[in-house]
Amino acid sequence: MSTKLKIEEIAPGQVYEATFWANPVEGNAFRFRATHLDGRRAPKVVLCNDSKIRPGMPCLVRVAEITKADRPDRGAIVVEFIRPQDFKLEGVWLDPVISKKLQILLESGLNILLDGPQGCGKTTLARAIAKTLGMEFVFFNCGAVVEPTDFLATIQVRASASGAPVTDFVKTEVLEALERANEDSATRFLVFLDEFNRCHESARNSLMPALDATRRVFHPVKNAFIEIPDNVQFIAAVNRGAQFTATFGIDAAQLDRFAPLQMDYPPPEEEVKILLRKHNALAEPLVSKIVKLADKIRKAPELSASLSVRATDEACVFLEHPLLEGDQQRMLPEVLKSSFCGRFNGRWDDPHSDAGAVWGVIQSAMKEG
Ligand SMILES: Nc1ncnc2c1ncn2[C@@H]1O[C@H](COP(=O)(O)OP(=O)(O)OP(=O)(O)O)[C@@H](O)[C@H]1O
Ligand SMILES: [Mg+2]
Repeated sequence: MSTKLKIEEIAPGQVYEATFWANPVEGNAFRFRATHLDGRRAPKVVLCNDSKIRPGMPCLVRVAEITKADRPDRGAIVVEFIRPQDFKLEGVWLDPVISKKLQILLESGLNILLDGPQGCGKTTLARAIAKTLGMEFVFFNCGAVVEPTDFLATIQVRASASGAPVTDFVKTEVLEALERANEDSATRFLVFLDEFNRCHESARNSLMPALDATRRVFHPVKNAFIEIPDNVQFIAAVNRGAQFTATFGIDAAQLDRFAPLQMDYPPPEEEVKILLRKHNALAEPLVSKIVKLADKIRKAPELSASLSVRATDEACVFLEHPLLEGDQQRMLPEVLKSSFCGRFNGRWDDPHSDAGAVWGVIQSAMKEG
C-alpha cells in the first residue's frame, strides 16, 4: 500500500516493519532514520538508536513515543528495535540461501557479482534490490565499453558555429550517479554493471580502483580522481554459461574485488508461478508442461547453450494470444519450434544441430506425456 499513514493511526506499542538508513542529519541523537512504516510513508521521520539495526535491511520495531504529534512540520516517531526481518524481494524468485548471502553482502557494502546463465533473473534481481531498498538504479551495459574512459564519459564530435569540429565529453549514467552521490549523501545508488565480462579487459582494469578499498575513479572531464562514497553499491552481472567460457575473460584480480553469488534458473514450480503471474489467462497444466520441457532442455548434457526464462515467457505470449484460442495443444509444438529450438544453432529439422537436438528432447518428453 502506498498511501501515507496519518499521525492519528500511530500509537505507542504498535509494531511495524521499517528499513533504516544512517541518519543524514549530522549530530542527531538518533543514528538511524526510516521514512516508511509497513511500506507506507510515515507522517514524521522514524528514528531509532539501536546498534542492532543494519542499514538497508528491514526490521520489526515497536513505537515508543511520538514527539510533537500536533506539529506537522516537526517531531518524530521514536521506535524500539524488536528483530531483523527477512529480506523480501518483490517479483523475483531467489534461492533462500543466496537470498541470505545477498542480504549480508548488501549490509556490508561489498561489491557483488551475479553469476548465472542467460535469462535466470540477474537484471530482474538487481532492479528488485534497488526498489526494495529505496535505492536509485543505475543501469550500465558494459558490452559496449572498449576504452577505459567509456565507463564514465563518451566523446562526441559536433560542428561548431564556424563549422570546425568540436569534441565534447558526454558523461555516462555511472559518472552522473557518482557525482550526485558525492553531493547527496541521503540518496543511495545501485550501479549495475551488466555484461561485465563482455567489455575490454583494459577498460575493466580502469575500474579496479573503484572496486577496491581505494574507492575512487579518474574523472576524464575534470582530469582528477573523484571519491566513490559509501552510498554507492556496485553490482555486476556475468553470464558464464558453457557457451561463454571462452569469452569469460575476467582475471583473478578483477574477480577478487567482488563477492560472487551463483544464480541458476528458478525451480520449475517457481518458474510456473512467475509465468502464471504474467499470463494469468493460461491454464496451469499448460504452463507446467512448457516449463517441464524447458527444464529437460536445460538439463540435456549434449547441449552447450541453455534456455532462458525469456523463452518460456515467449511461448506463453504466443499461447495466450486470442489467435491461438482453442488451438493451444495443437499449436504448442509449433510454438516451441521457434521459441525453444530457434534459440539454438541450426534448425529444428536438422537432427545434427543443437536446434534439432532440442526438438528431439521435446518430442521424446511429449511422448512420455
Ligand atoms: N528468478 C526470477 N524471478 C522472476 N523472474 C525471472 C527470474 N528469472 C527470470 N525471470 C524473468 O525472465 C526474464 C529475463 O530475466 P533477466 O533479464 O533478469 O535475466 P538475466 O539473468 O539478466 O539475463 P541475461 O543474462 O540475458 O542478461 C525477465 O523478464 C523476468 O521476468
Ligand atoms: Mg541481464
